[in-house]
Amino acid sequence: MSKRPKAYSYLRFSTPEQMSGDSFRRQIEAATAYAERHGLDLDTDLTFRDLGVSAFRGKNIVDGQLGQFIKAVETGKVKSGSYLLVENLDRLSRDRIMPALNQFPDQMTKLRQDPSVIPNMVSEIIRWQTPLAHMRRTALEDCEVGGQQIKKGDKVVMWYVSGNRDEDKFVNANDFVIDRPNARQHIAFGFGLHRCMGNRVAEMQLRIAWEEILNRFSKLELVGDPVRVRSSFVKGYLELPVVLG
Ligand code: HEM
Repeated sequence: MSKRPKAYSYLRFSTPEQMSGDSFRRQIEAATAYAERHGLDLDTDLTFRDLGVSAFRGKNIVDGQLGQFIKAVETGKVKSGSYLLVENLDRLSRDRIMPALNQFPDQMTKLRQDPSVIPNMVSEIIRWQTPLAHMRRTALEDCEVGGQQIKKGDKVVMWYVSGNRDEDKFVNANDFVIDRPNARQHIAFGFGLHRCMGNRVAEMQLRIAWEEILNRFSKLELVGDPVRVRSSFVKGYLELPVVLG
């Protein structure tokens, strides 16, 4: 049996147009090449594919294959030390900054004056927006949190979105401040054992997106009301009319 670490491929396309294009072949080739290059054993029996599933409302996690992958990790079907090869920008669409920058125009000026603030702004975007509102855990032992008794077996909801607005931690927590000194101490990626595995990828995606937006457009304007996803879990948007120029 191979001693090489296992790699699993996750593919997702939203639209029939994407499915009929060349992405499928290209992504499979890219995963195979990556596995070869890095000495990984690409599992071709256990693949995770959300074809025609939009990640916009988190459907691919709730009842899609990305959720299945996470389950496979939890149940031990996917072993610790394995790799997940993700060929798309799955979460980028969840992170919305235009409402914040329009609400706080001075921050846009600050950003134009000093683009080196982008990495810190990325953390502030993620804190301010908190794309996943909460997760749930089951207490393994009796304990006390913030003066509340929690009994072994209790189901506890951890509202990341609330923690990220904690005034004891973040001064004027409702404000969007791109050079906030402790922005990176947000808990939007969770905390501890299950902390988001993709946090660095997510940060990189947003950093590059913002570097490119600033390079290419001098005007960015929100021109209508955003339409929010009706969900207590995913804090996303269905519509966000923006003019770029
Ligand atoms: C800003 C974007 C993102 C946010 C806010 C976010 C947030 C989260 C949160 C809150 C969790 C659960 C932590 C917990 O259970 O306490 C999580 C888990 C996870 N995330 Fe992310 N995530 C983002 C982007 C990504 C990306 C881009 C990827 C993949 C490349 C990813 C992959 C995962 C995985 C695999 C887990 C499960 C980790 C585990 O349970 O051990 N995430 N994420």
